[in-house]
Amino acid sequence: MIPKIPSSEITPKHVYLSRRDFIKAAGVLAGSMALAACAPDLPEATQISAADPATSAKTDELGDPVNSFKDITNYNNYYEFTTDKEGVARLSKDFKTSPWDVEVSGLVKNPRKFGVEDLIKSFPPEERIYRLRCVEAWSMVIPWMGFPLSKLLSLVEPTSDAKYVRFETVFKPDEMPGLRQPGYPWPYQEGLRLDEAMHDLTILATGLYGGELLPQSGGGIRLVVPWKYGFKSIKAVVKIELVAEQPATLWNDIASNEYGFYANVNPRVDHPRWSQATERRIGELSRRASRMFNGYEEQVASLYDGMDLAKNY
Ligand code: MTE
Repeated sequence: MIPKIPSSEITPKHVYLSRRDFIKAAGVLAGSMALAACAPDLPEATQISAADPATSAKTDELGDPVNSFKDITNYNNYYEFTTDKEGVARLSKDFKTSPWDVEVSGLVKNPRKFGVEDLIKSFPPEERIYRLRCVEAWSMVIPWMGFPLSKLLSLVEPTSDAKYVRFETVFKPDEMPGLRQPGYPWPYQEGLRLDEAMHDLTILATGLYGGELLPQSGGGIRLVVPWKYGFKSIKAVVKIELVAEQPATLWNDIASNEYGFYANVNPRVDHPRWSQATERRIGELSRRASRMFNGYEEQVASLYDGMDLAKNY
């Protein structure tokens, strides 16, 4: 388990204090709760669990082996349950992921509510082996099952005014104990530019390792955007809204100087509190160099032609 390091130990004191003041002013720091979220991932002795026999031979397109099912489903970020990565699986085990509906609305010609079961019938899931790179500088290789978000968006037909897509996570305080802790602007929400959402790498995941999507991984359905930091890959999506303006996003609301809207993996632009040049692949002992756009540069760099990626972080 990663020790909870007080922000005061990893940040110069004046920065730490001014951030606290900022958060207080923004009304999101309640009681003694500190912003534990997205603390840097400190080196630790990782357990190397046995790889799943079913897919142990599988690798991503760079030749990196997929992480074990055990790692993928027992080391999670899901603040609606807990900030303890190794406690999410236990706390979410009774969370109901089926039936699951997702409503697609806003600037579309055919607004509709879809059942995930029906989506799976319409768009048979394909396996996508992607790297997931958390902003905290750890990563995994995950064999997702899912379908391109573009297929769903094409079905509802965005109007010409639609420029962004907004995603919202389910809000169920009775089943998600983390929602009771004050200080976060729930529900979790995220956003993409429409062209990012339509990119073929962007999927809605309905499973992993050939099976269902367990609660801790974001079931009933979750977004996966592999070239962006993991916090963009919002879990347990119940609402997808096509909008004209750039939508608010949870982490950006909490600390806009630390978490931007774009959040493209970029080893050249550090987080204000830690380097993004390297990462710890779960299951490996030494750190590895992080890749521009998480290794998907060839496919996605053109989306950002002419943009200053240090400003649009
Ligand atoms: N989605 C919701 N609703 N709540 C969360 O706390 N955490 C994000 C993202 N999606 C999060 C979320 C972060 S920070 C990361 S790194 C990934 O989920 C982790 O996905 P995983 O637990 O499946 O590896």
